[in-house]
Amino acid sequence: MKLDQDDMYNYWMPFTGNRDFKSDPRIMVRGEGVYVWNQNGDRVLDGSSGLFCCAAGHSRPEIAGAVYEQMKELAYAPPFQVAQPKAFELARRVAALTPADLDHIFFVNSGSESVDTAMKIAYAYHYARGEGQRIRFASRERAYHGVNMGGVSLSGMIKNRQAFGPGLPGVAHMRHTWLPEHRMVKGQPEAGAELADDLERIAMNFGPDTIAACIVEPIAGSTGCLVPPKGYLERLREICDRHGILLIFDEVICGFGRTGKPFASDSFGVLPDIMTMAKALTNAAQPMGAVAVNNKVHDAIMNAAPGKSIELFHGYTYSAHPAACAAGLATLDIYEKEKLFDKAAGLSGYFLDSIFALNDLPVVNDIRGYGLIAAVELKPGDAPGARGLEVQKRLFKAGLHVKFTGDTGIPAPPFVSEKEHIDEMCGILREVLGAY
Ligand SMILES: Cc1ncc(COP(=O)(O)O)c(C=O)c1O
Repeated sequence: MKLDQDDMYNYWMPFTGNRDFKSDPRIMVRGEGVYVWNQNGDRVLDGSSGLFCCAAGHSRPEIAGAVYEQMKELAYAPPFQVAQPKAFELARRVAALTPADLDHIFFVNSGSESVDTAMKIAYAYHYARGEGQRIRFASRERAYHGVNMGGVSLSGMIKNRQAFGPGLPGVAHMRHTWLPEHRMVKGQPEAGAELADDLERIAMNFGPDTIAACIVEPIAGSTGCLVPPKGYLERLREICDRHGILLIFDEVICGFGRTGKPFASDSFGVLPDIMTMAKALTNAAQPMGAVAVNNKVHDAIMNAAPGKSIELFHGYTYSAHPAACAAGLATLDIYEKEKLFDKAAGLSGYFLDSIFALNDLPVVNDIRGYGLIAAVELKPGDAPGARGLEVQKRLFKAGLHVKFTGDTGIPAPPFVSEKEHIDEMCGILREVLGAY
């Protein structure tokens, strides 16, 4: 189906300049493996796994089949006081992947919901232990934690907050982790562990016993792949431990193999108390997210509730939706069978070398990267983000989809990519960026 202007009138698109888009639309109508096709039938290489979520490639028939079978059998079961078997099965499978004792899995429908759920669990944990005065959160500049009110309050990206009121009270922001000496550094920068001391300063400023949790993306993804300096996450963990503050890793982008291990927590060797996840959980075939919680947090909340009472007054109508669970199970089967996390780890060196080789282009300001995610930050044009949008459009026309935030492109290929796809991606990037 080919869309014209009238067909597009009613759809108010998210995070999109609607008028601009509708005057020159980029419509994806089909996907297979690492490619999608637009409505003119042109093939476009997906250089960002959709929005960092189609890790196993597009339109996997195994996932489609599993969802179809589930929908025929049982398309819905309420998740409150009733359940369906795949919820338990998927929770077991996810818990087998999460590190250490982050074994208690709460299902949600998006990354944003996972963040707000994690915040509520942090509040509930302290409340259960008689420390209900812990109502503050430490977040970070340039953070993206989704778009619900909790996550927006944590956000460190100005445009995501500006028009939407004051947000939750009690959020203090640490500095972001990019330093000038990180320019063109591949992997974890050496300098900057001391930036974690901002958490100590916040604790001392507000009182350590008023802080519920510190939440960070292990790699700040949406702002353009800020890789944590060596020792930084370790230091956050130490400060949290010293003051009874929970550490939450928002692994919505990093989770399920993006860093070459199941979670960034594994890659960086630092354990949070709570972990959010979403994007690659179902390979994006169904909306789903989850929160993994360790024994300490889970047991405190469980043990505080008397008898048969509800322990956590939280949940969504579509928590653990049967179709999403079926998609999740089929996705985890693919990851396991095709060893896709190892494949991501194996491809990372070639991917990062190829992306960093673009550093000779005059328009490129900085490049960062880790695992199978990178950022190519461009020198700004007339207005912030204008050049990024223009480049994104040109790339798409030239046969490459890359997600841009402002003037920064964020390549993050599907794990099923081969070296030739990386070459194709970097070839198109060089051709388009070379024109500036
Ligand atoms: C770290 C992080 N948290 C939360 C979210 C929100 O996820 P969703 O768009 O599924 O609500 C995102 C999305 O990019 C993210 O990168």
